[in-house]
Amino acid sequence: MKVISKIQEMQDYVLTMKKQGNSIGLVPTMGYLHEGHLTLAKKARQENDLVVMSIFVNPLQFGPKEDLSTYPRDLDRDLKLAENEKIDVIFHPSVEEMYPNPPAVLMHVGDRTDVLCGKSRPGHFDGVALVVSKLFNIIQPERAYFGRKDAQQVAVIDLIVATYNFPIEVVAVDTVREEDGLAKSSRNVFLSDEERQQAPVLFRSLANAQSLIEEGENNPDSIIKFISEEITEKTNGKIDYVEIYSYPELKEIVELKGTIIIALAVKFPKARLIDNIVITNV
Ligand code: PAJ
Repeated sequence: MKVISKIQEMQDYVLTMKKQGNSIGLVPTMGYLHEGHLTLAKKARQENDLVVMSIFVNPLQFGPKEDLSTYPRDLDRDLKLAENEKIDVIFHPSVEEMYPNPPAVLMHVGDRTDVLCGKSRPGHFDGVALVVSKLFNIIQPERAYFGRKDAQQVAVIDLIVATYNFPIEVVAVDTVREEDGLAKSSRNVFLSDEERQQAPVLFRSLANAQSLIEEGENNPDSIIKFISEEITEKTNGKIDYVEIYSYPELKEIVELKGTIIIALAVKFPKARLIDNIVITNV
């Protein structure tokens, strides 16, 4: 496995591989790898000649009061895990390499970002858009892999690819969960034992909401109330949001029809957890 930290070297390598007719799959990550990331890597491995995983904690997508400095990092461990998945290249640039100067040309995602994490993390998706666009240009993948755990991120990336005509297929991969249903996340390590015990309530409340909808519940507000009460009663977490929209447009809906996302974010003292389900109700 190659580990490349310079943009020029990465571009030279990509050019050589492309000239030899190799297809490229890109798995963008911020590292501290877990089974979620590795599932994206496995899919990329099946579908491409060359698999590049980027590991870069992107400062531009963190707000001033967010966890950039404490975001978990362990490159040695990541490299071993990546090697096990037969990843060909790890692209691991420094912040100075990616942003030698504060970027003078910024991106602004003007749709699908006024709700959910876009609302509670202003500027977050602008930062994601910029770094992902840079990675797309540097690595020029045929396919790029993203997890549905960050369903709003997938919706935003789809919009960026369509708007800027990146010749890239965005492949969305289902959320990988612990046995008790908790979505795998690099931030789960920050939960206390008690919070870890409580955290599966997030997914359980989503799954129970899905059953209520299948049994005929049609009112978004009733579902939001049901989930909010479950979380408030059964965890010490503070609800950031529980919301329901059409997916992937992320527009408000008055009844639970068509393809919808039920998404939530809950703050524990040291970790903000997100989860969602997307369901199609006819
Ligand atoms: P990061 O949080 O490291 O996640 C990298 C990718 O792994 C994302 O596409 C995310 O949705 C996916 N992922 C994380 N947990 C998952 C799980 N439990 N199941 C399935 N997929 C999961 O998302 C980012 O990094 C950054 O915003 C990035 C796209 C790299 C841009 O900086």
